[in-house]
Order: sequence, then structure tokens, then C-alpha cells
Amino acid sequence: MSDPFAALLTTEQDGRYRTELVQRSLDDLPEGDVLIRVQWSSLNFKDALSASGNKGVTRRYPHTPGIDAAGLVVSDASGTFAEGAAVMVTGYDLGMNTAGGYGEYIRVPAAWVVRLPEGLKARDAMLLGTAGLTAGLCVQALLDSGVAPEDGDILVTGATGGVGSLAVALLAHLGFTVVAGTGKADAHDWLRALGAASCLDRDALFGESSARPMLKPRWAGAVDTLGGEPLASVIKSTAYGGSVACCGLAASTDLPLTVFPFILRNVRLLGVDSVEQPLAAKTAVWQRLATDWRLPVLEQIVAAEVGLADLPAWFERILAGGVRGRVLVRVNG
Ligand SMILES: NC(=O)c1ccc[n+]([C@@H]2O[C@H](COP(=O)([O-])OP(=O)(O)OC[C@H]3O[C@@H](n4cnc5c(N)ncnc54)[C@H](OP(=O)(O)O)[C@@H]3O)[C@@H](O)[C@H]2O)c1
Repeated sequence: MSDPFAALLTTEQDGRYRTELVQRSLDDLPEGDVLIRVQWSSLNFKDALSASGNKGVTRRYPHTPGIDAAGLVVSDASGTFAEGAAVMVTGYDLGMNTAGGYGEYIRVPAAWVVRLPEGLKARDAMLLGTAGLTAGLCVQALLDSGVAPEDGDILVTGATGGVGSLAVALLAHLGFTVVAGTGKADAHDWLRALGAASCLDRDALFGESSARPMLKPRWAGAVDTLGGEPLASVIKSTAYGGSVACCGLAASTDLPLTVFPFILRNVRLLGVDSVEQPLAAKTAVWQRLATDWRLPVLEQIVAAEVGLADLPAWFERILAGGVRGRVLVRVNG
């Protein structure tokens, strides 16, 4: 155990936010059962929001962001985990108002901690991270609602993002015909390599927002990471009996829609949250991601592998929608 340890710290001065590498002490960490030495973390859209002063994510500064962390247990006052156990934490309050995975140590309640499934290394767990868990929950929601590969095409929006790219890869792995909706014209080959059957340019998909309550039916199901007009358009274009898993707001928090797709086409809108899911539900998805949902293309989803000091440069890029795949963060890897 090393005390002090390295961590990123976001500070506020005159309404401006700045994140830098500093030395922190174990005494700076909140109370909690489990002290974890973090090996790997990852970059999510929400981490960039936290680091840029979004009060909907983080109310109090100074703060260490990082909603994902995987590492080894140093000690556990609850007696649930042995010293050296390989574990991870995603979501709950980690990295929001609890010091997060962008530090060499975290201290959290035992009720937040998932044991790494057999065969899933800490690096792979964080390559998936919250994005992989969310993609998994979206796919599980579609399967639970009865969507099957023979029903037709499944659209994934924001397809080059963390959640989007992992949803493309997972759906393709399960035999679905996946259409990847993306704003990045130069990413089509990459998306096909992940398993997309075809790619659609974001403007062609959502270019002309229509006042019509329903559009030509195209999708048996969809995973939407964008919200707003794009999500409304996806729902209007979903075929009879189809389902849309809604997990993101990269475009907007609005949903300009009538009830017609729901009451005339029996379309179902499935809300997906990965943060406050009960631990058992998270553990079940992680177990699948380590076994029958293990993705052969996982390594192709790495956008970059960076150290803590490199991370601040990535915050603006992810907020601008400019990251393709997942940024892995080596903390003590
Ligand atoms: N519900 C949950 O528990 C949960 C969990 C994780 C994430 N999320 C949410 O899901 C969304 C995606 O998260 P992420 O970590 O995957 O983010 P990300 O890696 O930044 O991916 C977002 C993608 O959306 C597209 N995009 C970005 N800005 C856009 C805009 N203004 N208009 C249209 N498309 C835009 C881009 O993909 P293309 O260029 O390919 O279109 C971008 O790569 C975020 O809103 C995040 O907050 C929710």
C-alpha cells in the first residue's frame, strides 16, 4: 500500500474547472468497507461531464472522477472480500460525489463491489466498463421483450461511441443483423469489422426531422444512445411489435413524439439504467460478458490506452462525440 498515492483531482476556481495529477492520502477517501487498489479504469461520457463541472453529475469539488474501477481488495471491513480478491465497481456514486477510479485507491461500500467473473481480467472488465454493462443491459432488455434475430434489422445509434460500439459487437455476436448509425463517415469499415451488416450516416438517418407521427417501419429493435429527435425518429420507424432500448442523451434529453407508435404499432420503449441496478443484476450481466457474451472483437474497440496524466486531454474529445470506441485508463496496470 502506498500513501500518499497518485490521483486526478478536478478543482473549481471562479466557475472554471481544471483537472490535474496530484498526491492524495488514504485519509482523503470517504468512509467505506472496501479499500481497493485500482489497476484499470476507463473513460465514459459521464466522466468528462464530471471533470467539466456538470453539477447534475458532481455537486462538490475538489473531486476525483472515474465511474469505473477494477483492481485488488486491500481490506474489507464487511468481511465479504478477502485481501487480494479481484473486483470491480461501476456506477452507484463512484466518480460522482465519491472519489472515483482516476486514483490509485478507492474506498466504497461492499454493496457496490462485483467480484470479477472467472476468466475476465481487470483490463478487459474496464475495456467494457460502464459502456459494456449498459450495452449488455440494453441487449438483455431487447431479448426479454421478445426481439429475435429473425425479426429483422436492429439499429444502434451513436454506434462509434463506447455504448454504441459494444452494442453493435454484442448484437452481431448474438446473430442479429445490425445497422450502425453514425456521424463518422470514416468509421464504416471499423463498424463492419465489429459486426455491423451496414452503416447509415447520421444525417441520412435523422437529417430531415419530420412532423409525421410515424415513419416507414424499418427496425425490429434499436439501441439508442442519443435521445432527442434521433430517438423520436427511431421510435417512429420501429416496426409493429418492435422494441427500443433507450439509454443515452448524447444528442438531447428531449423526446418530441406522439403516442401513435406505441398505440398503433405496439412499439415498446425500454428504459435502461446501469448505475443503480441492483448488484445481482449487474453481476448477472458481467457473468454473461465473461462467458457466452464474450466478444471476440473486444481488442478492436480500444481507442487508446492512457495513463492518468493523459486523461484531461480526452475530456473535450469525448464531449464533442469525437472518440471511436473505448479509452482504457492504466492506473496501476
Ligand atoms: N443509462 C445509463 O446507465 C448509461 C450508461 C452509459 C452511458 N450512458 C449515456 O449514453 C450515451 C453514450 O455514452 P458513451 O459513454 O458511449 O459516450 P461516447 O463514447 O461519447 O459515445 C457517444 C456517441 O454518440 C454520438 N454523438 C455524440 N454527440 C452527438 C450529438 N450531439 N448528436 C448526435 N450524436 C452524437 C457519437 O457517435 P457517432 O459519431 O458514431 O454518431 C458519439 O461517439 C451518453 O449520453 C451517456 O450519458 C447512459
